[in-house]
Amino acid sequence: MITRETIDEIKNRIDIYDVVSDFVSLKKSGANFKGLSPFNNEKTPSFFVVPAKGIFKDFSSGKGGDAFTFVMEHEKMSYVETIRYLAKKYGVEIKEDRNSPEENETQSERESLYVLMNFAKDYYKNNLMHSDEGRSIGLSYFRERGFNDRTIEKFELGYALEGWENFSDEAIAKGFNKIFLEKTGLVVKKEDGSSYDRFRGRVIFPVHGLSGKVVAFGARMLGKEKNQPKYINSPETDIYHKSDVLYGLYQAKNSIRQHDVCYLVEGYTDVISMHQADVENVVASSGTALTENQIKLIRRFTENITVLFDGDNAGIKAALRGIDMILRGGLNVRVLLFPDGEDPDSFSRKVGTTEFQKYLKEHTQDFVSFKAGLYAK
Ligand code: UTP
Ligand code: MN
Repeated sequence: MITRETIDEIKNRIDIYDVVSDFVSLKKSGANFKGLSPFNNEKTPSFFVVPAKGIFKDFSSGKGGDAFTFVMEHEKMSYVETIRYLAKKYGVEIKEDRNSPEENETQSERESLYVLMNFAKDYYKNNLMHSDEGRSIGLSYFRERGFNDRTIEKFELGYALEGWENFSDEAIAKGFNKIFLEKTGLVVKKEDGSSYDRFRGRVIFPVHGLSGKVVAFGARMLGKEKNQPKYINSPETDIYHKSDVLYGLYQAKNSIRQHDVCYLVEGYTDVISMHQADVENVVASSGTALTENQIKLIRRFTENITVLFDGDNAGIKAALRGIDMILRGGLNVRVLLFPDGEDPDSFSRKVGTTEFQKYLKEHTQDFVSFKAGLYAK
């Protein structure tokens, strides 16, 4: 537990103008400040900050509260995450009450896993941009797929070097515990006790949790090697439950809220290419069937989902399953079919940003007419 004193100390140092203006541009208005609501898409400012009282009020959405509430609402952080965020911003040292030994152990263990995942993410990023192998193989692969530097940085893409122990060696040299290398799934232990890096000679797609922490990786092979899966993913761990995570949600959440709709696609590269086509409200279920928890996650940001899928039969079947799930979750569904053989990634690159956005606008169908059309066929 974070101590009362820590929280009070943060409250003493907080300046609500300073906290809010990290996310909203504010103009002086008498003794107060105003700006465009970050919670609604509006043209005339109805969002106010009152420094004297340490509060904000958003008349367009009805939201209001203090700096803690603002960060929680805007960043979709938990109370504890918010405390940590603000403590860091104001240089307040976090003091914690003593937990039971078990609580301490699991808490610090999860923390260790996050730290190691973050280290791995930086390591793979660094390989991609600054090693000869990474640049000549990984970076040129991403270039071929049309990903620019901004995209690579936004999704924190990386590269895992060829070789069995590059990552392990580096992590151990940096003092990381072998146990955690296995617990994050970054390293695989063999029966004879030896171990090797899970990801080798592949480009890396970090999977972020809602607050931006890396919880898993997907790793794509570069060529068309036979007898190898196209993607290798992190296994389930203490910090990664596949069914509770959506790829791209961290990068999409503000845009989903703003447009009040979430596009649902299948793959990592679909999400990324759509960002490059200036469509940022998109998440991927990453090749698995959509789960109830994933739908609940989306629901925190919008009640409207548009499912995008390829026009082949397998695509339609998978989409129908997902749609039932979404309807049961109480959300509104619309659907959009791509031409046979195209996924959002290939199609957006083929036709370009303007045409792609036009296609989204013109070909989105409501669920009833989509189903009627199917039966007619
Ligand atoms: P796709 O094969 O449609 O992937 O699988 P993609 O993103 O279009 O891949 P590219 O364009 O060929 O690079 C959809 C998703 O299913 C998961 C991945 O999350 C992938 O993005 N998948 C696919 C795996 O986890 N393992 C696999 O071997 C294949
Ligand atoms: Mn694809």
